[in-house]
Amino acid sequence: MARQFFVGGNFKMNPASRKDKVALVKLLNEAELDPNTEVVISPPALYLIPVKGSIRKDIKVAAQNCYFKDSGAFTGEISPAQLVDSEIPYVILGHSERRTLFHESSEVVAQKTRAALDKGLNIILCIGETLNEREAGETAKVCEEQLKAVVDVLKESDWSKIVVAYEPVWAIGTGKVATPQQAQEAHKDIRSYLSKAVSSGVAESTRIIYGGSVNAGNCKELSTLPDVDGFLVGDGSNHDLRDLVVVGCS
Ligand code: G3P
Repeated sequence: MARQFFVGGNFKMNPASRKDKVALVKLLNEAELDPNTEVVISPPALYLIPVKGSIRKDIKVAAQNCYFKDSGAFTGEISPAQLVDSEIPYVILGHSERRTLFHESSEVVAQKTRAALDKGLNIILCIGETLNEREAGETAKVCEEQLKAVVDVLKESDWSKIVVAYEPVWAIGTGKVATPQQAQEAHKDIRSYLSKAVSSGVAESTRIIYGGSVNAGNCKELSTLPDVDGFLVGDGSNHDLRDLVVVGCS
């Protein structure tokens, strides 16, 4: 089954200024993109609407988070309905920074995923283990637990709107990218879990992308792995994203 390659740029709380944001959009608008690669960029919430209005049409825009209610007294939150109203088609959910810094449980991530799907959003669903969990041999177990909470609230057809991002916490922002063997093993385990927990069809068709210190220098080898269907790039997305796409990491 051919899965469309996917490159996501998670800008996190960057760039720091509108000037830099405009420069990044210009760089991407002028980049030579691989037409077979789905490219999604995720700027900070304040910039979602202006980026959506100025980025080329073959690059999609994602929010970095959303809540699981459509409106109400939830200070600081953004709702799935507001993202849809702003024509933002994707949302990143369950990022490890949301789980660790903002204490989001897998159950809350599942609630958000359900609410986002109910509004028709596409989801980049992040999972991944800490260094302690990897060293304890618990990588597959942790990823399964994080996925199970979402599996329990989705029906099979929902999975066409989900891109799973395997992001080992120990590789995020550290420069320590997973080895091809580590990445392939984790992705393969995730795919076999989806086959058992949902269906072989969903396992085959769901894109599982890798995130954690990806850059233009290491993406090529990772992109050749059978169960790596793309990348979610953090730091690199502020400069390498164009290279990732342009160098044809697909
Ligand atoms: O969501 C992608 C991000 O967590 C990876 O960050 O800086 O290691 O590419 P980075």
